[in-house]
Amino acid sequence: MTADMYREYILQHYRSPRNYGRLENPDIVHEDDNPLCGDQVHIEVALDDQDRVADIRFQGKGCAISQASTSILTDKVKGKTLEEIKALTKDDVFQWLRIPISPMRVKCAVLGLMVLQAGIHHYEARRGR
Ligand code: FES
Repeated sequence: MTADMYREYILQHYRSPRNYGRLENPDIVHEDDNPLCGDQVHIEVALDDQDRVADIRFQGKGCAISQASTSILTDKVKGKTLEEIKALTKDDVFQWLRIPISPMRVKCAVLGLMVLQAGIHHYEARRGR
């Protein structure tokens, strides 16, 4: 795909985000914002009995990169274990986005991943792990 097609891919996720909304009985709930701009992401996760992501939803407000990257993230982590998600890095997010991310936009691109990983840490701390 060309850079233009990837830009269009991001805009599609921004306009029609996947897994948008709330869950009825989430195991993990977390939200945070990008302190530089105040844009927010709220993520809810339901786990199966092997601590894999059975379902995931998000809501948020912010720039196209932050909201699209969170939408893509929710698709990518379905079925993954918490350990696999904790091992994800900003480079994984950049690979999914496939457009150059300027230093100014790095926090936008990784906002969803940071919220999800923080939510996992809180969940594990509550369980004494
Ligand atoms: Fe706020 Fe991108 S400008 S997250």
